[in-house]
Amino acid sequence: MSEMLEKARKYEFIQGQQIKEEERPAFHITPYVGWMNDPNGFSYYKGEYHLFYQYNPYSTHWDSMHWGHVVSKDLLHWNYVPTALAPDEDYDKFGCFSGSAIELEDGRQLLMYTSVNQEKLEDGTVRDIQTQAVAVGDGKDYEKYEKNPVLTAKDLPKGASKVDFRDPKIWKGNDGNFYCVIGSRPADGSGQILLYRSKNGFEWEFVSILAKNQNRYGKMWECPDFFALKDKHVLICSPQDMKARKYEFHNGHNSVYFLGDYDANRCRFSKEQPHTLDYGMDFYAPQTTELPDGRRIMIAWMKSWDACVIPNSQDWQGMMTFPRELEIKENRIWQNPVKELENYYQNPCCYEHTEIEGETVLAGVEGRTIDLTVTLEDGENTIFSIKLAADSEYETSYTYNKETRLLEIDRTYCGVTKDVVCVRKFRIEDPAGLKKMRFILDYHSIELFINDGQQTATTAICTPLNAKDIYFFSDKKMTMSVEKHDIIM
Ligand code: FRU
Repeated sequence: MSEMLEKARKYEFIQGQQIKEEERPAFHITPYVGWMNDPNGFSYYKGEYHLFYQYNPYSTHWDSMHWGHVVSKDLLHWNYVPTALAPDEDYDKFGCFSGSAIELEDGRQLLMYTSVNQEKLEDGTVRDIQTQAVAVGDGKDYEKYEKNPVLTAKDLPKGASKVDFRDPKIWKGNDGNFYCVIGSRPADGSGQILLYRSKNGFEWEFVSILAKNQNRYGKMWECPDFFALKDKHVLICSPQDMKARKYEFHNGHNSVYFLGDYDANRCRFSKEQPHTLDYGMDFYAPQTTELPDGRRIMIAWMKSWDACVIPNSQDWQGMMTFPRELEIKENRIWQNPVKELENYYQNPCCYEHTEIEGETVLAGVEGRTIDLTVTLEDGENTIFSIKLAADSEYETSYTYNKETRLLEIDRTYCGVTKDVVCVRKFRIEDPAGLKKMRFILDYHSIELFINDGQQTATTAICTPLNAKDIYFFSDKKMTMSVEKHDIIM
């Protein structure tokens, strides 16, 4: 083990223990200590779910990317495993960037990641050089391959930049080969997704340009993922530098998906229009994996590069979303929390066809680690609103206007002390409007699943934990049903 890896492991073991359990979310992943961004290497290996993450143990800011590592048996309780990768080789000394994991034929686990180095130009400026590297291990300790990097500038198609070439997502094809998609920047300065193939996971060859941005959807496309779902193929990526388009995309970093058809013989993907994956304020760089039971599960970084509401006064920064099961319905991706959550339900509290008008509280409907479903029924109302994680000072509100079919999230009063994005509006996809809202609340986040998962909206909050009231509001008479379960771990 390198000195650098040993140092990270010792450091996180000592510092990570100091963070009290109640300072972290109850069931969302946070870094052992320090900074976390993208989920990496999400996979099922030897009876456990593995998740790695972009990690800087030494501070709550992005720097010196390592791979942190957690494992779980139920997708809710995650245990810290020692740091998997440190930027300790010449070819990755400026970071072990995002990547993925897969089990090899011989039972070892392969990690494939972006190795970042730098080069000095003639004018003295320095720039990153991104290549791809692999490491193999047993689910705890990993050894970097002696012939790393396995993909370099020489494996790029004409015009593609060696500065932006990152985030390999690997899978095993039906033909027995390994494949991976990698984000790249072509000569037009925007993004594209490259496809590579390997017989053994170590020797790779360029196959095709799977998708081109052509400056339509932001610039560089980061963190691609590509998989079959039902009778379609899905390409997920996270474009940088997007411009808001009405209520569909927002400014800055987005995460989008394209459905389409994949011709596996010609390695060509014909894609349809992109759609937003999540309409909230904190969702980026998602990664999926297929579980042994066939479910396709996605986890994303529950933060954004553009805004951050979680204060830096604590010893961790960055969380992951709750794992979500993906399905295709009506030619869209639908998302729902994995069903394992229900194993931790306690204290159910239900109201059926309750009439409300004006502001209403319902006895027993409160809490900060809850699964709350609100079904909107008949009403003469135009406005329906719900305030969560609330008391007299704090609230995060969700306000729906039936006439415009817009839902507005507002976290202005969730405790934020910076001038970051606090309001987001989007249109409810279903022409029949908003019928069901399912909120998964944890201490520092609210994930909303709309109309049985047709749309989602993920938002981090920084509200004191005793603000746990819930207020309902309707401008005219309406009826609703409410089901609340505490999630007790
Ligand atoms: C996305 C990203 C990736 C990169 C990683 C570096 O959030 O920029 O493209 O691999 O973060 O930490």
